[in-house]
Amino acid sequence: MVQRYSQLCPVAFGAGAVSTTGDVAKELGFNRVLIVTDENVKKMGHTQKVVDSLTAAGMETFLFADCEMDAPDYTVQTGADLVKTHAIDGIVGIGGGSVLDTAKGISTLAANHVSVSELLDSARNMMPLENPPIKLILIPTTSGTGSESTIIAVISDTKNHEKIGAIAPPSFAIVDPELTLGMPKEITVYTGMDAFSHVCEALTSVQPNPHSDILCYDTIERITKWLPIAAADPLNLEARENLALASNNAGIAFNDAMVHLGHAIAHAMGATFHIPHGIACALVTPVILELTAPVYPEKVKKIGTCMGLTISATDPQEIGIDVANGLRQFQKQLGIPTLPDLTISREQILGCTNYVANEGLRFLCPVPATEERIAASLAKIYDCYQ
Ligand SMILES: [Fe+2]
Repeated sequence: MVQRYSQLCPVAFGAGAVSTTGDVAKELGFNRVLIVTDENVKKMGHTQKVVDSLTAAGMETFLFADCEMDAPDYTVQTGADLVKTHAIDGIVGIGGGSVLDTAKGISTLAANHVSVSELLDSARNMMPLENPPIKLILIPTTSGTGSESTIIAVISDTKNHEKIGAIAPPSFAIVDPELTLGMPKEITVYTGMDAFSHVCEALTSVQPNPHSDILCYDTIERITKWLPIAAADPLNLEARENLALASNNAGIAFNDAMVHLGHAIAHAMGATFHIPHGIACALVTPVILELTAPVYPEKVKKIGTCMGLTISATDPQEIGIDVANGLRQFQKQLGIPTLPDLTISREQILGCTNYVANEGLRFLCPVPATEERIAASLAKIYDCYQ
């Protein structure tokens, strides 16, 4: 079988990389730049580093710090209006996944003569917009989303309570591990488990490729080794470098190989219960490994080996159960809350079945995601922690 792999955009990686933002923006031909961020990132002083670098490179900057969790559609519209008002010719997004998704949404909306609801409708119908997005540099301040290297912006349709994936490729990614130093334990762990889920799903989707597989296994090794260290010692730069690389590599991997049922379920949980994306990903990933082990027994076994587990089972289903249990144990040590901890009942999680059954990513699962199977997977997320 012929498989395609690629890398969406160049990446500048390393401690201090944020200070090169001005140089990158110059290469891309920016003059008037909208910086998209949120109040927390601004307070931490990261945004100022971007302003300083762009100003030193001779650019005029405009700040939009109103991003909110889950990239709601109205913030995308407000940012796109600013682009038009100020004749912006380049955008820099700096922040966590929601900020990067908002910046991506703004870059594609502002380049086209449509409203944000028309953008979401075209994304829903998989119809590309007429014009390519305004050039965009993305700078993550967490290690999890990988959004700086993926083509999709996940935007919340606030009217219909849905998360929609719109096409919005970035032009350049700047990954600076120093920006993640000192991140609180909870955010470190949840975002790390998001990246972990990306590679587990990329390895077991219907369209994996050898390049993404290599990145995925390496990501599992790095996260298993360095996530507990970063959680315990938030200022450990070596741990932060390894997690930043893992997260970016996971993004590059799943941009080609895609995620599937796990993220369909995580999106449903996020839209329904408003819990952090990384918690939803952490809880669903063992279930996905069990589900896909009969299709990819050797891959799931290797996931376990990369985690340092000894998997002696030879039966595919038993391999899936053993690796899933090992992952649940790892998550327990990291303090990931379970559904009962979050006061979400079995009935409530089963209530997500219809949402998942209408989520496009389910088609990328190698095991047909029937309504029955979706319900059984949701039930397992609850039952496995009893
Ligand atoms: Fe994710």
